[in-house]
Amino acid sequence: MQTRQEIKSEKSQSIQIMNTSTALHICLVLHLSGLVLMAGMSIADFIAYRSFWKQYAINKQEGLTMLNAASAYQRVMAIGAILLLITGVGMMALTHGVFGEQLWMRIKIGIVVLILINGPVIGRMQGTKLKKLIEKSILHDTPDLRISVLRSRVNLISVANFIFLISIVVLSIFKFN
Ligand code: HEM
Repeated sequence: MQTRQEIKSEKSQSIQIMNTSTALHICLVLHLSGLVLMAGMSIADFIAYRSFWKQYAINKQEGLTMLNAASAYQRVMAIGAILLLITGVGMMALTHGVFGEQLWMRIKIGIVVLILINGPVIGRMQGTKLKKLIEKSILHDTPDLRISVLRSRVNLISVANFIFLISIVVLSIFKFN
């Protein structure tokens, strides 16, 4: 026979488990929303770059306007990335870091670091450089060979970003250990 005290402590324990599980689900919903924002905006950015190059071949100034408009995608992408990071850390805290000991999570964190180096560091630098070269080329009305080198570099960065994102999704779902 359980005492009243035991019943009370059992009840509060199950309420705590329920609260943690709800918080985990909320974090996972926000985590996946961050992923949708990040992946969606990466695709939008990639398409915008392709349209930009087509327009640039016809009218350089209009092309530049399109490139400037596409910078909004990168801002939303950054919001998605921040949401992913915050909710990911939140889920780690809620699960007392149990995933941190698993191989898939360690590889995932490594790829997250690669995404951060590839996108906000290298990608941003190359994007800014490309924009400056285009502005200079329009101003002096001379073609710049470095632009085509940067074009392939920016493409490579986008492709690498997709590969990293898909690898993370596969790792997070299969949880290889
Ligand atoms: C680009 C970055 C990231 C992407 C694309 C991503 C993707 C995903 C996906 C798709 C899931 C769902 C797995 C499932 O429920 O089947 C997931 C779960 C999870 N992620 Fe991430 N994630 C990213 C970053 C992070 C970071 C930085 C952390 C931790 C610091 C993290 C921690 C977690 C945890 C703890 C889960 C929950 C696993 C579970 O409850 O089954 N994630 N992530």
